[in-house]
Amino acid sequence: MSNAPLGVGLIGTGYMGKCHALAWNAVRAVFGDVARPRLEMLCETSDAYASARAAEFGFARATGDWRTLVSDPAVDVVSITTPNQFHAEMATAALEAGKHVWCEKPMAPAFADALAMNAAAEGSGRVAILGYNYIQNPAFREIARLVSEGAIGTPFQIRAEMDEDFMADPDTPFFWKNAASSGYGALDDFAVHPLSLIQRLFGRVERVFCDMAMPYATRTDEAGGQRAVETHDMANMLMRLEGGVQASLQVNRCAWGRKGRIALQIFGSKGAILFDQERMNEVELYRAEGDARQQGFARVLTGPQHPPYDRFVPAPGHGLGFNDLKVVECRELLHAIAGEPATVISFAEGIELERTVHAAARSFESGRWVEVAAVGG
Ligand SMILES: NC(=O)c1ccc[n+]([C@@H]2O[C@H](COP(=O)([O-])OP(=O)(O)OC[C@H]3O[C@@H](n4cnc5c(N)ncnc54)[C@H](O)[C@@H]3O)[C@@H](O)[C@H]2O)c1
Repeated sequence: MSNAPLGVGLIGTGYMGKCHALAWNAVRAVFGDVARPRLEMLCETSDAYASARAAEFGFARATGDWRTLVSDPAVDVVSITTPNQFHAEMATAALEAGKHVWCEKPMAPAFADALAMNAAAEGSGRVAILGYNYIQNPAFREIARLVSEGAIGTPFQIRAEMDEDFMADPDTPFFWKNAASSGYGALDDFAVHPLSLIQRLFGRVERVFCDMAMPYATRTDEAGGQRAVETHDMANMLMRLEGGVQASLQVNRCAWGRKGRIALQIFGSKGAILFDQERMNEVELYRAEGDARQQGFARVLTGPQHPPYDRFVPAPGHGLGFNDLKVVECRELLHAIAGEPATVISFAEGIELERTVHAAARSFESGRWVEVAAVGG
């Protein structure tokens, strides 16, 4: 058993807030090797809304003031699931109050703020991780194992795509992801996710060339008027990784028909691997060996032989879902807090993802390749 029971504080209860709440509720039941967390306090934009959500999510107390939550003595770890612009202030305050932090990606729209978050984490001695849930997929862990054990020989190239269509409709109203206060757009909303997978497999991005696009110049605002869109919903990146692997990444939040695509193609000297988050329980493996007449991609369904799938369901091929990845991430966080080996993306590792995003934005502005290390700090 790892950990004494920890007191949890949750700030924000939207898409990701519910996902964190489900994970905190489930982690003990699924894994058994961590103590059941105490759901201490939940924060939303008003006391009344916070109370309603606390009752639904199983939290003991509620507040409309996040500073009350991060300073509460019964709270040991804080989930931050608010829009991007709030992450830096909330995470830094929580760390300075001696709390562990589980903050959603990206770290912060401004690189200086992300650096300050990392400095606060280092100064606190607390565990601070980011919500890069896709690294927790048993299918991705299997891909990492296959690559490291040489199943496809020497890897030469990775191509990645992340596409969804929640902004594809020009009539979708303006919301916080269309404002510059959220960052560049698809770069720090989407690109960081596949970049977390690429970085885990092949190391940091050395240099990048990037083009961005804004398909719709305006969207309808709350008053029914037109408001200028301030973020880019599409980006294409060419990259060279440390160690020499060539990479490309295309991201699009306006890709009709794509609902949750994070597709990888990895090509090596002896084979290839394919993955797509829309079919998150499958890995396709091609081995260039044996009788050429029978060569082709083998479709492997994840099962109990791909840990930690076995902790959720004993039957192969039945499949995990998106929310299950957060339960895995929650368990890894608890292991990290207990000082045990854990698969997490810390603030320190997250900084390198943010550095790549800012290098990509600089490339778009200058029309040139940019060395990622040139983004300071
Ligand atoms: N890891 C992932 O796969 C993933 C997926 C989606 C979003 N995200 C990230 O999660 C974060 C939240 O995104 P979302 O889609 O859940 O947004 P959302 O708009 O659905 O939810 C945000 C919530 O925060 C609350 N909030 C805003 N300001 C607050 C404040 N000052 N105090 C307390 N609560 C406040 C809002 O009322 C809302 O309930 C973003 O940073 C986003 O990038 C991560």
